[in-house]
Amino acid sequence: MKFVIWDPGQTKSSELQSECNEAAWLQKGRSLKEKEARLHQLISKLSSMYPQHTEFLKYLHRSDGDESVPTIYVITPTYWRPVQEAELTRLSHTFQLVPKLHWIVIEDSNTTTKLVGDLLRRSLLTYTRLHVATPQAYKLPANPKLSWVHPRGVLQRNLGLQWLRTNLDAEKQKGVVYFADDDNTYDQALFEEMRSTKTVSVWPVGLVGGLLVEGPLVEGGKVVSWNSVWKRHRPFPIDMAGFAINLRLLLNHPNVAFKLKAEIGYQESLLLKEIVTISELEPRADNCSKVLVWHTRTEAPKLDQENNGSYIFQPNLPCFKKWSVREGVEVGIVQINSVTVSFVFLPVL
Ligand code: UGA
Ligand code: MN
Repeated sequence: MKFVIWDPGQTKSSELQSECNEAAWLQKGRSLKEKEARLHQLISKLSSMYPQHTEFLKYLHRSDGDESVPTIYVITPTYWRPVQEAELTRLSHTFQLVPKLHWIVIEDSNTTTKLVGDLLRRSLLTYTRLHVATPQAYKLPANPKLSWVHPRGVLQRNLGLQWLRTNLDAEKQKGVVYFADDDNTYDQALFEEMRSTKTVSVWPVGLVGGLLVEGPLVEGGKVVSWNSVWKRHRPFPIDMAGFAINLRLLLNHPNVAFKLKAEIGYQESLLLKEIVTISELEPRADNCSKVLVWHTRTEAPKLDQENNGSYIFQPNLPCFKKWSVREGVEVGIVQINSVTVSFVFLPVL
């Protein structure tokens, strides 16, 4: 169970302190029922202190102990590049706003890395951390013009699926599975839309397929067609960010997985056509009229000053400056209050 202490106006700090003590009480070995009851009391107290934020405070009650609320299992493949920490930070902050979310992060790497581990620990989210490296033959070529010859995140998402199948029981756990790439932008409201998914729920995705919005067209509560131009004859012309799958449906299809050799743009279709038909799709986001997720793709930053072959030691930096020269290899320069200096120096390759 998680509890967030939040003081909107930085006021009433003594009252807040006593509430903090209550939050500490909640952490101690009490039964779930006791904690839930106390948490309810605490939220109504805070609501009377901050009446203007009652709704928000209610929302903070994450009902983590309520088994009737399905958990959202978010599967995120990720790989090292200069923007990785920024991308994952943005995601983790969005996910912190979502009740009953379990983040499964799979690094495309031979080992787990300190960067991702630290970030996940700091996030206070419920998470699982896995890793599997994409074979070199399936990695993206250096030439950006050729960059899209292989599908991305395939083995990582499959490892996430394997984790679900090994660790969860469809009879006991209610859940929904969502494949959330690390570079997209998610509205917190999207997760409440998908939480009630019975088979596969769908919604529009912004900034993808050469359009401002690509997504299902809905009539009478059913998907009848697609607003899609790029490879529009795909069985499901939809981006990975545009659907979520009921956990039981996935567990009942134990061999369903993404394919390393899929034609570009077909990953989603090849998986979906094995588990669902178009008439079974459940439109969300007001009959697919709202955009709650965007296929943002972060521009690769220009780092030519970093890549000139020498490190610049910056003693004024208050804390960790870290820089990875190659995937999985972390180079740290540490200077904390002029006291601790410890660093790993690796020559630039
Ligand atoms: C589009 C879709 O949005 C992806 O879901 C789909 O995997 C991809 O096409 C495809 O068909 O392969 P795009 O923005 O081009 O996505 O892909 P990325 O965002 O670069 O990669 C998708 C995910 O895989 C990201 O979470 C990324 O961190 C991860 N990835 C990418 C790796 O784990 N390893 C890599 O070498 C590259
Ligand atoms: Mn992407």
